[in-house]
Amino acid sequence: MLEHTHEDSGQIHKLVPHRGFNLITGIHSPEEVDRIKNWDVRDSDIFVITYPKSGTIWLQQILSLMEAKGDVTGTQDKMTSERIPWIELIGSEEGFVSSPSPRLRVSHLQYKFMPLGLREGKCKVIYVARNPKDVLVSYYHFHNYAAMLETPKDFNDFFEKFMKGQVYGNCWFEHVKTWYSHRNEMDFLYLTYEEMIQDLQSAVEKICTFLGRTLKEAELAGVVKHSMFTDMKRNPQANYTLVSSSLLNHQRGSFMRKGTVGDWKNYFTVAQNQRFDRVYEEKMRDVPLSFVWDIGDTIPA
Ligand code: A3P
Repeated sequence: MLEHTHEDSGQIHKLVPHRGFNLITGIHSPEEVDRIKNWDVRDSDIFVITYPKSGTIWLQQILSLMEAKGDVTGTQDKMTSERIPWIELIGSEEGFVSSPSPRLRVSHLQYKFMPLGLREGKCKVIYVARNPKDVLVSYYHFHNYAAMLETPKDFNDFFEKFMKGQVYGNCWFEHVKTWYSHRNEMDFLYLTYEEMIQDLQSAVEKICTFLGRTLKEAELAGVVKHSMFTDMKRNPQANYTLVSSSLLNHQRGSFMRKGTVGDWKNYFTVAQNQRFDRVYEEKMRDVPLSFVWDIGDTIPA
């Protein structure tokens, strides 16, 4: 059994597999996660699905701003994670049942745990993927900073765990592949982190079209402006600086860390990179997806 214990803050969190997916004790409950599949979804529900560190907070901010018609003051009553909560956290069901429409939610769960209505196309699903080398680096930093996750010995130690899927979210390849393979059964939008870096306004417009929302020019400009990295980094409601230090140790890192493409080049050794490329090639052989690996490739020629 895979069990990692972390004891900062006196609370013990362990990564414990449940039906082939690692849950974090004290954060998730297997019984509650199993009940999610029976949740009643509404046509107006919007779910954002990501593998960790792929830009979840970014979508939370964009969708909040869209609801507020680009006016950032309309998003400052609560933290991002309260406005658009995770469905897998302990105690999330009650809020889901009682919230007015539209209900906006995020999740890192695998497809098999999701409400049946979602899987049958009853609501909207936005899946955001990020190139997995940058995900790995971002996740490494997050492990150094999040009290509920085990602090890696070093980068190589974390690299091995990520490759084995011994993290929350499990195997990146499985997550992306499974969700993507079911895309035609759902009302589904696939987005990448890198396309948002490349052209945030077009990405926001794409989200609006998918959700059937029309924003005036000034409203759209407000959404884009307040979901830029620099703006979010300064905005405590959007950047998790207000999250208790028993969950995030703010001395050791920040959630809005670097926000770029290609940071993996500063961490991967040549051998790690070659190994990653071999695994990627093998696992993604039959998947019609491609990723941008370098910031230079996001700039139009
Ligand atoms: P880095 O650690 O590489 O900086 P998640 O919310 O899924 O955990 O993703 C967090 C990652 O998304 C972090 O990556 C964070 O900086 C990045 N991110 C969040 N908002 C962003 C934005 N507006 N622009 C660019 N990157 C953003």
